[in-house]
Amino acid sequence: MNKREFLRTVGGSSLAMMFGPDLLARIAATSPAELAEDEAFWASIRARFTLTPDYINLENGFYCFQPQEVLEAFITNVRGINVEASHYMRTRKDDDKLRVQKRLASLAGCSPGELIITRNTTESLDTVIAGFDWKPGDEAVMANQDYGAMLDMFKLQARRRGMVNRLIDIPMDPKTDAEVVEAYAKALTPATRLLMIPHMVNITGHVLPVRAICDMAHARGVPVMVDGAHAFAHLDYRIPDLGCDYYGASLHKWLATPLGAGILYVRKDRIASLWPIYADASMPDTDIRKLNHTGTHPVHTDLTIERAIDFHETIGSARKEARLRYLQQHWTTKVRGLPKIVMNTPSDPKRTAGIANVGVRRMPPGELAKTLLDRYRVFTVAIDGALVKGVRVTPQVYTSLGELDAFVTALRELAA
Ligand SMILES: Cc1ncc(COP(=O)(O)O)c(C=O)c1O
Repeated sequence: MNKREFLRTVGGSSLAMMFGPDLLARIAATSPAELAEDEAFWASIRARFTLTPDYINLENGFYCFQPQEVLEAFITNVRGINVEASHYMRTRKDDDKLRVQKRLASLAGCSPGELIITRNTTESLDTVIAGFDWKPGDEAVMANQDYGAMLDMFKLQARRRGMVNRLIDIPMDPKTDAEVVEAYAKALTPATRLLMIPHMVNITGHVLPVRAICDMAHARGVPVMVDGAHAFAHLDYRIPDLGCDYYGASLHKWLATPLGAGILYVRKDRIASLWPIYADASMPDTDIRKLNHTGTHPVHTDLTIERAIDFHETIGSARKEARLRYLQQHWTTKVRGLPKIVMNTPSDPKRTAGIANVGVRRMPPGELAKTLLDRYRVFTVAIDGALVKGVRVTPQVYTSLGELDAFVTALRELAA
């Protein structure tokens, strides 16, 4: 590959050309709700992924592999950087990374000065948790349904700094936003310095009323950090509209980038007071890049994010959210309410999108996941916690209704 080809790829030319005029015209002319039911359109999206014939993959929430075009761009970036190596790192890496950061900021709806590219949600949120100047007796509030890595980071701060963690249970099937807001409000005290909430609960798919929770917390002087691991490029929103102070997400889940990409958003006025984990004396305290000194890093991953954004934007956030919710509703409405079926996901479609969780009464989650894979060739993940027992089901834009119907048949047989 010559330099011009490399630059063209790194330059991230739009994937729109690859979708072709017919497909683009169909996307442009159709509302998200209508397009969600257009199986011919989604079949053409499906054709852009290389799928394994071995099983139906309903576990895209951990990591969703890249569409073919994005994978090819990634391989081209790896090859190009392997040729240019240090010369690339010394001459163009910083500008390229800044360009990708700006595209991500635009997708997130925030200013480029409020967002950095990280490796994942863990790095993003742990940077904030460890960056607080915790004093003994300071409190943080979070939920038992939050992700283990962040709960562990808070426990570490408690051991090291003597701060205190208060955990709540998020209502499993709330009928109003107020129910959820109230569950958090009750745990805040005058000593609360930070509230962590998930945008979407990873084990159940529950979408929280983030704006209402932030408004409540801010009225009491408490900043809010949102775990957006499953919301970014899944739901249609702009981070500033949520009203939060800190936001972290992984890009290798719903944006389907190469592994090892994430974002951290810090609201402008919150940057100065955060301590970085890795020091960077070249950056002022008010510059978010002070939190991004991670050393030499696989830069081809960062570069390829542009192609993943191209792919995502060609579908569009609103259309993708509508399709993912449609897929979830397609199977959950067929099994919800059946004897022995336990749904662990809110019944109100407004409180969910693509993710759902289902159990079969008296069947341990591990056995259910194993039986689904061994007998029915359906891959899910078992969730066996105090509050949730079932398998988590995460389709993606390539998932077909036929695959979900096969899953429904399996569930019905197992519950019979
Ligand atoms: C809610 C939530 N937060 C954080 C994470 C961590 O993501 P990562 O491993 O990409 O850092 C996950 C991973 O599944 C998650 O579900």
